[in-house]
Amino acid sequence: EMRDAPRRQTALASTPLDLIIRPRRNRKAEWTRRLVRENVLTTDDLIWPLFVVDGTNTRTPVASMPGVDRLTVDQAVRDAERAMKLNIPCIALFPYTEPSLRDETGSEALNPNNLVCQSVRAIKKEFPEIGLLCDVALDPFTSHGHDGLIEDGRILNDETVAVLVQQALVQAEAGCDVIAPSDMMDGRIGAIREALDDNGFVDVQIMSYAAKYASAFYGPFRDAIGSAKTLTGDKRTYQMDSANSDEALREVELDIAEGADMVMVKPGMPYLDIVRRVKDTFAMPTFVYQVSGEYAMIAGAANNGWIDGERAMMESLLGFKRAGADGILTYFAPKAAEKLKAEG
Ligand code: PBG
Repeated sequence: EMRDAPRRQTALASTPLDLIIRPRRNRKAEWTRRLVRENVLTTDDLIWPLFVVDGTNTRTPVASMPGVDRLTVDQAVRDAERAMKLNIPCIALFPYTEPSLRDETGSEALNPNNLVCQSVRAIKKEFPEIGLLCDVALDPFTSHGHDGLIEDGRILNDETVAVLVQQALVQAEAGCDVIAPSDMMDGRIGAIREALDDNGFVDVQIMSYAAKYASAFYGPFRDAIGSAKTLTGDKRTYQMDSANSDEALREVELDIAEGADMVMVKPGMPYLDIVRRVKDTFAMPTFVYQVSGEYAMIAGAANNGWIDGERAMMESLLGFKRAGADGILTYFAPKAAEKLKAEG
């Protein structure tokens, strides 16, 4: 026969719990919350990705990324000025390539006067102090939307790396400070490092997209660069499987051995565990990309009044710091920097 469960003593005001440790004491007021705060987000942590498009004096909204525009080069220079004023250290550039310029091999990637190179020169001319990061991958330039060369439906590794090396050199020649290979081909970091060094670009840094997952969260980015409709199949033969974590460490280890100066985990919020493992294991400058779909979720929900957009933005960014990231690529960069500035 079952006995009655023992009754819990009710904690009435007159009978306080006999607690020595009360974690709430440290949270009782803002001054003490500030005092015990472990992590802090500053503008120094931000990299702002911009989309550039051909034309003049035009900003075209990206429908799936509320608040983000495609910018003609002159407008990208204006945003670089905004970044300077907000003390954002670095900008990342992504092109929307005219469909007529896209082909099987992504040859426009090697055009020293393509949109990315034009933007780099225009921004560096007016604001030489701001850091500029350029993606290395062929997807903005290929008719099929893949990051590499294709043969019989397969993405070729070594042949692609040879082209990526040329792309990196073209961008370095234009004045890019940080080369950021986002293609996930094997061996590309070593090949790019060697080519940069052989061509006098010893100071050009490499931030590798080291642990980049095949993710549904890149959708709005593919709208922004115009590769969403053209992409045939998916990127699972080169980007990582979301189920894997040890594999991320092997990828990061290889990229460091091949010469990466900084490593990145991408996407961000669903992969905070990877950020933490990478930081703890390698103690390298570790970056995280809060990708387009993450941005869209927060901005979209905020626009619908479903969440407090500003607070969700700051909470998500602080979460990356807590996970161990040294810096964050985020479309929220200017908004976050403005908020940080206002807070003093
Ligand atoms: C290109 C590249 C992608 C992103 C950055 N570089 C898309 C992809 O791999 O398909 C995604 C960024 C974002 O979603 O914000 N290789």
